[in-house]
Amino acid sequence: MTAKEYTYQSILEALDTQAWQDAKKRFYSRQEALSAVDAKTYPARLDKNYSKYFDLTEYVRVHFNHVRRIGLEKETEPKNVLDLGCGSGLFLAICQHIGHRGVGLDVGSEMYRDMAIALGVERRVGLILPQEPLPQDLQGFDVITAMSTKFDREDFANPGVPTWTAADWKFFFTDLAQRLNEGGIIYVSPNKWREPDRFPDRDNVIAYFDRMADTKFEHEKFIFTREKILADM
Ligand SMILES: C[S@@+](CC[C@H](N)C(=O)[O-])C[C@H]1O[C@@H](n2cnc3c(N)ncnc32)[C@H](O)[C@@H]1O
Repeated sequence: MTAKEYTYQSILEALDTQAWQDAKKRFYSRQEALSAVDAKTYPARLDKNYSKYFDLTEYVRVHFNHVRRIGLEKETEPKNVLDLGCGSGLFLAICQHIGHRGVGLDVGSEMYRDMAIALGVERRVGLILPQEPLPQDLQGFDVITAMSTKFDREDFANPGVPTWTAADWKFFFTDLAQRLNEGGIIYVSPNKWREPDRFPDRDNVIAYFDRMADTKFEHEKFIFTREKILADM
């Protein structure tokens, strides 16, 4: 892998393919065909909520910024990336475009399946749940990411899941750290994480992140190292 100069524009041009435009068209024609009742039920409701990810112009910018915070565009060796709550798989598609490899995990829906196929991304279907390890075979990663997380609270995908406590986050990070290669990192950007009314265990969660995170960026973006998490087990 040679270090190249990547720009937001060059990535956008590479990913905005006919397959992506076709997936988008299929999604909107399915939406039109849905009855009013069906449109209110899962997964149609989930798809409607997350169809904003068809906007590549916006989300290539967002995800390329994540890539740059982690420094993945400067790596000269391919990294193995796991993206949790990967949505369309766009972050992984950008990683692949610059020479890395990866796999995503998110809930199942026709829209997400079509998006991931169009982007050429491997995507596993499954729910991330509090105090439950990830599937056993997800091992050997250099970077694990979880961006704009929604698995840590009630969402269309996980009705009834209570907002994670500090103990839930610790279980999660400990499980992830054991799936990382030596020197591996976890990059997390919790979604609207500090909204007080939605986070009953807010103070403890913030204290855990502040104590354990190795790097803190603006707007609640954090890097954790495998070694520090394993030392805290
Ligand atoms: C706000 S979106 C973020 C998507 C992507 N990470 C990004 O930054 O563009 C939250 C994602 O989390 C997924 N999600 C929510 N709860 C989940 C769960 N329990 N397990 C796996 N994925 C989940 C949703 O399907 C959705 O794709």
